[in-house]
Amino acid sequence: MSTEIIPASHDEAIERAADLLRGGGLVAMPTETVYGLAANAADADAVARLYEAKGRPRFNPLIAHVTDAAMAARLAHVPELARGLMQAFWPGPLTLVLPKKSTAPICDLANAGLDSVAIRAPAHPAAQALIRAVDRPLVAPSANPSGSISPTTAQHVFEGLGHKIDLILDGGACPVGVESTVVMVEDETASLLRPGGLDRGAIEPLTGPLQRVEDSATPASPGMLKSHYAPGAKVRLNASEARDDEVLLGFGQVAGDLNLSETGDLAEAATGLFAALRQLDTSGAATIAVAPIPATGLGEAINDRLQRAAAPRDS
Ligand code: TXA
Ligand code: MG
Repeated sequence: MSTEIIPASHDEAIERAADLLRGGGLVAMPTETVYGLAANAADADAVARLYEAKGRPRFNPLIAHVTDAAMAARLAHVPELARGLMQAFWPGPLTLVLPKKSTAPICDLANAGLDSVAIRAPAHPAAQALIRAVDRPLVAPSANPSGSISPTTAQHVFEGLGHKIDLILDGGACPVGVESTVVMVEDETASLLRPGGLDRGAIEPLTGPLQRVEDSATPASPGMLKSHYAPGAKVRLNASEARDDEVLLGFGQVAGDLNLSETGDLAEAATGLFAALRQLDTSGAATIAVAPIPATGLGEAINDRLQRAAAPRDS
């Protein structure tokens, strides 16, 4: 049976989703960044099913979603610097990796048995309402099969996971369009694990310059596998025109078959990025060529996702 999609704006929808989550179910919910696949963080069976549904490696820990800083304090020790970041940017597209409390209501599988836990308070009203209704942290990775393009509409979720989950809440298209920025705070120092929907220019006035912790054999952010966000077609970056058997994803002056933002607006480009890759992937072209995108502001996150989409694949 295929999974039902229901509008997230009704109280009954939130109640039904909360009931499913209390019973160990998996519910896709809209957030301001991308759609997440939610489960009760404390329920090891539900979390095991979540990894299974996504085909996600179990060493890659999940983000616990909370309503606010008070709920975050149930999960983690919160250094002063992290408290300031929560005050400035929550709810919103910032995930903080913090020292986990031993009493945290999160199963070992959800954070891969680490001493730390990733936490964020999403800004989308449906996600907020759902967490409040369950009154527990919900883990929620992006609601797509592992390694593929993250979903920014309920329809994208359905296409990827439509038979494997219990319910999809439809809250429309996600306004930010790329995943949250992940920042680790240890001993009052912050480092950047994943660029995302909150650009470093906003964060650094509070933290000082953020060191980017790059992938390594044991990445600090285990989810930063090289090939990710990959469409079926190959991806070629910094292209000024389409070659034979290519479609062109444009930006600014480089027109393209689709244009991420004719005015060169990086926020607009981020919002439409994943939907554009999906659309061009259905064109049948062997390769999606992508115009240069500046690396400033949200361009850091956009370029990160594009580089992963273009990275060599195992298969
Ligand atoms: O915007 C988002 O963050 C979306 C929406 C649904 O909230 N979620 C999302 O989740 O992107 P996911 O699972 O696709 O990415 C979680 C990232 C991964 O890179 C993971 O390795 C990292 O957070 N992470 C989670 N727990 C961590 C920890 N304890 N230490 C370091 N990195 C961690
Ligand atoms: Mg993901």
